[in-house]
Amino acid sequence: MTKVTALIVAAGSGTRMGSETPKQYRLLAGKPLLAHAIEAMIGHQRIEAVRVVVGAGQEEIASAALRGLDVGPLIIGGAERADSVRAGLAAIEDGIVLVHDAARPFCPPEVVDRLIDALDNADGAVPVLPVADTLAKGDRELRGTVNRTQLLRVQTPQAFHVEDLRFAYEEAGNGAPTDESTVLQLAGLRVATVAGDEALHKLTSPSDWERAEMMLAAAMVSRSGTGFDVHAFEGPGPVVMGGITIDHPMGLAGHSDADVVLHAITDALLGAAALGDIGQHFPPSDPQWKGAASDRFLVHAADLIRARGGIIDHVDCTVICEAPKVGPHRAAIQQRVAEILSLEAGAVSIKATTTEQLGFTGRREGIAAQAIATIRLPA
Ligand code: CTP
Ligand code: MG
Repeated sequence: MTKVTALIVAAGSGTRMGSETPKQYRLLAGKPLLAHAIEAMIGHQRIEAVRVVVGAGQEEIASAALRGLDVGPLIIGGAERADSVRAGLAAIEDGIVLVHDAARPFCPPEVVDRLIDALDNADGAVPVLPVADTLAKGDRELRGTVNRTQLLRVQTPQAFHVEDLRFAYEEAGNGAPTDESTVLQLAGLRVATVAGDEALHKLTSPSDWERAEMMLAAAMVSRSGTGFDVHAFEGPGPVVMGGITIDHPMGLAGHSDADVVLHAITDALLGAAALGDIGQHFPPSDPQWKGAASDRFLVHAADLIRARGGIIDHVDCTVICEAPKVGPHRAAIQQRVAEILSLEAGAVSIKATTTEQLGFTGRREGIAAQAIATIRLPA
């Protein structure tokens, strides 16, 4: 059996999308666009390996977007798409390659089957769709229409025998066209067409993005969960709260680092997904969690939700104590929690209150935190 490798090109800058983060790393319904594209490939029975080409300088953001996905070492691409494909071809094994855009989040498995099957009788294969709109020439005024009956829209993934595509790029030299199937044709090789799919639409502009968000949202149900945690003051400081260390004369007692904020948010996430509570996942009786940094608990809860195809929309936490004052650290905690959860800072809210010197928090005996998480799960 010929080895089939999916090569995802993600080294672009997403200029036309106009977002702050390059589009392939931006969260689409809570998950990086690139991760959507990769999961469609990893999930296919006939695809053995998935490799990713990223831009120089994108390594860190790409690694975060790819957490938990088995894609081997990152391949570094180039200024033009052809440079990125070339770099990918140099890094993969012989066999069949499916070159695919990171900017296409949905790939029906049947398209991949049709492409691989078509290579029995051709050097390359591409998914195509007919052109539905009238095509015309002109600028402010029409200057004639174009006969569309022989025109096709070409999508990705595009399938090739690896050696053929390498040969075609060598023939093309510098300045090779952006589309691999064009490069193959220029080298005199044959490219077959198979039926494409509207789901393969490439996200190029903000309106494409909105449409894809809407499609995904329609297939999800929203869930909420709450969490609550208390730790007592004991011994000298500092206090660890929301993943950051705060100077304080007193510390908090606990089996782990006693981070009430991260514990409450972890329980809220587990609750939203009906996955039990933090004590079930990380028993206090287990010595391996002694003194543990609580970001591991939070990452675990987030990974469980994402492994179910879920999306974390928002978390909100209220810290209840007289001291330390949370206000000066609020932004840092918000940033850190967002980082641990791979969310944008706007999806994390941190608040604080006292209990007017009433009760155990009022007597400064300990700190409490309560949290709520809103997630979406596949319906
Ligand atoms: N791509 C690449 N290397 C490049 C340019 C593009 O790997 N030098 C990838 C993009 O990351 C994307 C795919 O090719 O997954 C299709 O390109 P496009 O949709 O044009 O993405 P961008 O080039 O990032 O966007 P724009 O053209 O709007 O800047
Ligand atoms: Mg481009």
